[in-house]
Amino acid sequence: MKRIIIAAVSKNNVIGKNGKVPWQAKEELKHFQKTTMGFPVIMGRKTWEAIGKPLEGRLNIVITRNLDYSIPFHEAIIFYSIQQALNFLKTSVYEKIFIIGGGEIFRETIDEADEMFLSEMNFEVEGDVYFPVIDRKKWTLDFNELFSDFTVHHYIRK
Ligand SMILES: NC(=O)c1ccc[n+]([C@@H]2O[C@H](COP(=O)([O-])OP(=O)(O)OC[C@H]3O[C@@H](n4cnc5c(N)ncnc54)[C@H](OP(=O)(O)O)[C@@H]3O)[C@@H](O)[C@H]2O)c1
Repeated sequence: MKRIIIAAVSKNNVIGKNGKVPWQAKEELKHFQKTTMGFPVIMGRKTWEAIGKPLEGRLNIVITRNLDYSIPFHEAIIFYSIQQALNFLKTSVYEKIFIIGGGEIFRETIDEADEMFLSEMNFEVEGDVYFPVIDRKKWTLDFNELFSDFTVHHYIRK
């Protein structure tokens, strides 16, 4: 089971501001939908609250430390650690799972992930949540795909 990070990152490495993604990019969302469709998506509780409802066609996994947290949707399940979620998924049929953020979850998984799809937006923005620094020695750039306002970089762990 491949663990794949997927994120959209501004030129200055911002991924979030005030609990939201600080830009709107329809084409990038389409890329996200197409890449993740049919596979489980793992996200932190804050990202879950920013999205506000389950991403359709995907098993939504929300990570929280709050044992009292509840979610009123049957398409989403809660785990209390990333490892607990990964252990659960290991017993499933999925060949890939996507780690979709936010900053805290990316920081905690970047050293364990097998692949990354990073959409580098063509602009800088102000923000308060950043993608972690990528240790280039540990990753091979597999391909770049150009879109009008972003470029997708696909990395594979060396
Ligand atoms: N541009 C992008 O691609 C992208 C993608 C996703 C999100 N975002 C943005 O990123 C921001 C959110 O990121 P964030 O770093 O603030 O929060 P986050 O990573 O989405 O969620 C953090 C929360 O996840 C839970 N958590 C994290 N690690 C855990 C662990 N090891 N065990 C159990 N629970 C754990 C905790 O929830 P509890 O506090 O409930 O315990 C923690 O407060 C938002 O602005 C969002 O819009 C951007």
